[in-house]
Amino acid sequence: MLHLYKYAKPLVFKIDPENAHHLTLRALKSGVLRPCSAYTSNGLKQTLWGLDFDNPVGLSAGFDKNAEVIAPILKLGFGFTEVGTVTPLPQNGNPKPRIFRDPENGAIINRLGFPNCGLKIFKEQLEAYRKKHGNDLGLVGVNIGMNKEQKDPASDYCTLIKELAHLADYLTVNISSPNTPGLRDLQEKGPLTELLTQLTKTRAELKDHQPPILVKLAPDLTEKQQEEIAETLIACKIDGVILTNTTLDRPDYLAAGFIEEKGGLSGTPVKDKSTTVIRNFYQLTKGKLPIIGVGGISTAADAYEKIKAGASLVQLYTGMVYEGPLIAQNINKGLTELLEKHGLHSISEAIAADH
Ligand SMILES: Cc1cc2nc3c(=O)[nH]c(=O)nc-3n(C[C@H](O)[C@H](O)[C@H](O)COP(=O)(O)O)c2cc1C
Repeated sequence: MLHLYKYAKPLVFKIDPENAHHLTLRALKSGVLRPCSAYTSNGLKQTLWGLDFDNPVGLSAGFDKNAEVIAPILKLGFGFTEVGTVTPLPQNGNPKPRIFRDPENGAIINRLGFPNCGLKIFKEQLEAYRKKHGNDLGLVGVNIGMNKEQKDPASDYCTLIKELAHLADYLTVNISSPNTPGLRDLQEKGPLTELLTQLTKTRAELKDHQPPILVKLAPDLTEKQQEEIAETLIACKIDGVILTNTTLDRPDYLAAGFIEEKGGLSGTPVKDKSTTVIRNFYQLTKGKLPIIGVGGISTAADAYEKIKAGASLVQLYTGMVYEGPLIAQNINKGLTELLEKHGLHSISEAIAADH
């Protein structure tokens, strides 16, 4: 069934992108998109933050905003999935249409603005998943954000940490989506230090489980901003960094019409920019801060490039839209072949090979 995506794709692409996404979620829930077997290989396994990753390929945030398809996604062969971005209160996001495709360039623009069911429903769905599967199928990160109307961002992030930490293998502080006014300003040194100090303090007060905290950044940062952020992440003892979110760039080769849409651009056009930020951060943090590399990955070669630049794990979203549900399996198979070709025994040996 899964390999039939190439026949289904032209039909799927006739549908409005957001409706197509909701149909995909329904198909995943119904069990239609279930692989015969998942690809595994010893060389792909890794332990990070005390967590055992079966393979380094994850689904990045935004696909499963409400934590409703965790099991079907992990069964597709992803080593981990990141659910969210969740905000404390439910919100509708921006007016539709708000997702646009440029198939020629393997690109998407979205200006969703964190539409989600809110903390209460998100938590119920994640609890139900944990009750049924625990940690059996793979790892689950929780990506947290603030409501559009919130004037005190830290209070939203702290609420979400208190309510969701016990259900999360790791937490991602999303301060890089371009569609929530003011969110990206939290990447500035002063506000960032203040925010991260409060968040780590909140985590330290948790009784049973204190998951690693990762910060997700934009690709549109100057070198000076990257330097300041790297220093701040280390100073605040943050556990890892996700590089990167979508870009505000509009390369001139993008399709007419599409190029005019406002929002964050993802897929192939953000690939090199995100790899450059990964390379910079690896150097700036002297390899001390584990990096999850994301942006324009659709093949094993793309994933390998991010790993060589300094990423320990990778994630993708847009690649799945264009390549279909077998993408994680194909990348994992391809990565194993690349390791063999380079005479390496494990992914860990390939990390930061460029440096
Ligand atoms: C439709 C769409 C919705 C997204 N929503 C979120 C989100 O809610 N939170 C987040 O941190 N990133 C979100 N992202 C960004 C992706 O997680 C990823 O960082 C970015 O798209 C680059 O990776 P890609 O080129 O593989 O898509 C979204 C991306 C897309 C295309």
